[in-house]
Amino acid sequence: MDKIRILGGVPLHGIIPIAGAKNAVLPLMAASLLTEETLTLSNVPRLMDVTTMANLLIQHGVELSMKRKTPADSYDGDIIELCSRSINNTTAPYKLVRLMRASVLVLGPLVTRFGQARVSLPGGCAIGTRPVDLHLKGLEQMGARIQLNGGYIEASVRGRLKGTKIVLPQISVGATENLLMAAVLAEGETVLINAAREPEVCDLAHCLTVMGAKISGIGTDVMSINGVNHLYGTSYDIIFDRIEAGTYAIAAAITRGEIELLCPCSPLMRAVFTFLKKCGVQIVSTERGVKISAVHGDIMGIDVMTEPYPGFPTDMQAQVMALMTTARGVAMITETIFENRLMHVQELIRMGAQIDIHRTSSAIVRGVPKLSGAPVMATDLRASVCLVLAGLSAKGETIVDRIYHLDRGYERLVEKMAACGARIERISAEL
Ligand code: UD1
Repeated sequence: MDKIRILGGVPLHGIIPIAGAKNAVLPLMAASLLTEETLTLSNVPRLMDVTTMANLLIQHGVELSMKRKTPADSYDGDIIELCSRSINNTTAPYKLVRLMRASVLVLGPLVTRFGQARVSLPGGCAIGTRPVDLHLKGLEQMGARIQLNGGYIEASVRGRLKGTKIVLPQISVGATENLLMAAVLAEGETVLINAAREPEVCDLAHCLTVMGAKISGIGTDVMSINGVNHLYGTSYDIIFDRIEAGTYAIAAAITRGEIELLCPCSPLMRAVFTFLKKCGVQIVSTERGVKISAVHGDIMGIDVMTEPYPGFPTDMQAQVMALMTTARGVAMITETIFENRLMHVQELIRMGAQIDIHRTSSAIVRGVPKLSGAPVMATDLRASVCLVLAGLSAKGETIVDRIYHLDRGYERLVEKMAACGARIERISAEL
């Protein structure tokens, strides 16, 4: 298994292109199951999770072709064509679903178009129990019969699903997406109350609208969907990855460097950029993107609490914690979305960070002048990148193990950071 070796202490300077959003492309690929016509997605990032979703769809019978953009480091992503005219299998097997929790997003599309689906209960990042009860309850309310059998969700409906009012007791990105995709082909009107408003949910809703779905309230917490008889194919360009952009912004800040991100200086970044500005990071929009600079002055410790969008994203919590370990003063970081998402804390402490955990969901981070490099082990995608960021700022060598998590969600991370001067390399486990 590969590792990443970093010799820290070099301020990063350069330009980083930002890829299409992982959390947008996965539901959009699943949405191709909703039509027999071709859905063409562009700005697709090169990620393991995209490959996993592609393999899952292919085994359902989706005809999939991928056009790689050249040169490999081009700003534009890949193009995928997906055609679901001859689906021959509505089972999503454990061997694929366990690799990626987002596989459960095929459930809504399969059951609404084909009246049946058998989907393994998902695995994914080890950040809490992460149930799918909201997905299942919503589908049941729409008339699906749901059974759990041998580790599989078995869902079926006679005829079409029926539109209804669904109040989500908790905001869930995945449940909103699954129910939205189920509702677009259901009979009558579905109202999703307390829906997730994440930009990636909106991207899905916008694409579905271009495909012929009737959706109102996109971007609000109440979405109304009037079911249609069928959807059409279309071409759709995926939004940029705000979490990747935020991660590289922290890379600039933590190394006290300066990086220009090639992505829009968009309102989608507001929560993260507001936080970074409070810390003392300079952020200015440029002709082609946004420049993040921490070359002048200290980083201050600032409290932060994760919340559903438009609040501060949980997917940036670990990276921000890395930044706070060398900030001036104290920062309280509170995770409210997932239980058990502070597993990077113990590894950061091994690098010399001063962090106390309170009641399993809050961490008090007292800034130290410098971290020191160490061998560390990542437990999930964002925790992995947090350790890479810590390693970039630390004195000496850091080896990050279990980097397969990074391949799931960061396209060419080592290359992008090395192009900005980072002393970072991927090493194979035998070395
Ligand atoms: C998505 C994102 C993930 C991000 C998360 C929160 C994708 C592919 N992944 O994950 O990167 O961290 O949103 O922004 O888009 N919950 C339940 N029951 C359910 C569903 C969720 O209790 O049926 C809970 C979860 O355990 C969690 C909270 O709701 O505590 C939010 O989870 P959710 O928004 O569903 O996350 P995902 O869609 O899995």
